[in-house]
Amino acid sequence: MKPAADSHLIDHWRDQPAPLLPLLHAFQERDGWLSEDALRCISDGLKIPLAELFGTVTFYHHFSREENGLNKPRVCDGPVCRFRGTENLLEALSAKPMPCAGRCDGPIPVLKGNEVLIGCEANDLKPLPSPLPSPNPGGIEECVFAHIREEGRATIEGYKKTGGYAALEKALVDSPENLVALITESKLAGRGGAGFPTGKKWEMVAQAEGNPKTIVCNADEGEPGCFKDRALLDYDPHATLEGMILAAHATGATRGFIYLRYEYPDTMGTLERAITEAKTAGWLGQNIGGKAGFDFELYIRRGAGAYICGEEGSLLNSLEGKHPFPRNRPPFPVTHGFEDLPTVVNNVETFAAVPPIVNHGADWYQSLGLGEHAGTKAVSLSGDIQRPGNYEVPFGLPLKTLLHDWAGGPLAGQSIQAVSMAGLSGGFLGGERP
Ligand SMILES: Cc1cc2nc3c(=O)[nH]c(=O)nc-3n(C[C@H](O)[C@H](O)[C@H](O)COP(=O)(O)O)c2cc1C
Repeated sequence: MKPAADSHLIDHWRDQPAPLLPLLHAFQERDGWLSEDALRCISDGLKIPLAELFGTVTFYHHFSREENGLNKPRVCDGPVCRFRGTENLLEALSAKPMPCAGRCDGPIPVLKGNEVLIGCEANDLKPLPSPLPSPNPGGIEECVFAHIREEGRATIEGYKKTGGYAALEKALVDSPENLVALITESKLAGRGGAGFPTGKKWEMVAQAEGNPKTIVCNADEGEPGCFKDRALLDYDPHATLEGMILAAHATGATRGFIYLRYEYPDTMGTLERAITEAKTAGWLGQNIGGKAGFDFELYIRRGAGAYICGEEGSLLNSLEGKHPFPRNRPPFPVTHGFEDLPTVVNNVETFAAVPPIVNHGADWYQSLGLGEHAGTKAVSLSGDIQRPGNYEVPFGLPLKTLLHDWAGGPLAGQSIQAVSMAGLSGGFLGGERP
């Protein structure tokens, strides 16, 4: 097939929402890199000054200004992979290092074109699906991982087998205010790090002036050692979609974006399929679920490799095609988010928790936590541990129980020297003393 002409790519993307990232990706996919001619053409097409565009493009790790750069191997240089031999692989493949690619629960990931290959030896690299979260040994009730291990869960048919989209049906016959009240009562708090109460955030967006309102799913998880959102999106994508559509109902938003980190190309395909399925079933688009006037369109925007884009202000600037610097706050995204209009930004896990809360109630969600604590948290475990992977823990579970009883403890003959919490931003906890 003849490659698409410049004008065709520009015409296709120019009037779409948040067009810069997908347009840059389209040129890079076509040419294998971003040439100066390509940048001039995009600069003209989107009316972005060339110098500004150059600064933005070169900020991202995975936009290549080197001929055929897209197809050159990039090896994960994250802290966990370094222990497994990143240096050797870099040398053997004559590759470039890349920041943590979110596959810390297995061998080293190597990105080549749009493929993620996994392995510790240059002659033994292969594509491997992300590991499924293991069930916890105590049979403790889960929220976001409760159905993730079911066969075919990533399809709408599989999702519907255990009540998929029932929460939306239930919410649509009730008022947006009651949905916000339910989420507030559940004490669900943001799972992207800052722990802001989700119901409060939605209430602020619902009450803010200005339209259209936007729902953004932050799927940029770039914190080294963090790979929980990948598992949720790979195996249960409709849960996040349903959570986003519920957020749209609660706030009056009519458009949404999933900002997906570049390093998850397979997840991109899974999400595209899920969105098509949801659209066909009438859960996206116009008059959703048969409710006149409830319209919500959802778009995926693929990042290009920049840790800071996980921070919501940077993420919004990135979506808007600006240099992805954090924004000064206030104002906050709830009033001045995407295109300066009211916007919900929530993490993947936060959205995925919403349908079960609507199905089972606020008290149920609260009661999943231990003692005074409400709810659960998906935790990614990696490093020198017997069973690395994602675990959904009740809030209040002692770390020792997670490390030893759930994940099998340290490797044979070793003891735990230190635990890094919440990625590198979280510092270290000292290990066990004899
Ligand atoms: C440097 C930095 C990186 C961040 N990275 C992420 C991230 O990868 N994913 C995420 O959901 N939130 C991340 N956050 C938090 C977001 O700014 C924001 O608070 C969050 O997406 C809101 O969603 P929540 O309320 O559901 O947690 C980051 C924040 C900072 C300061």
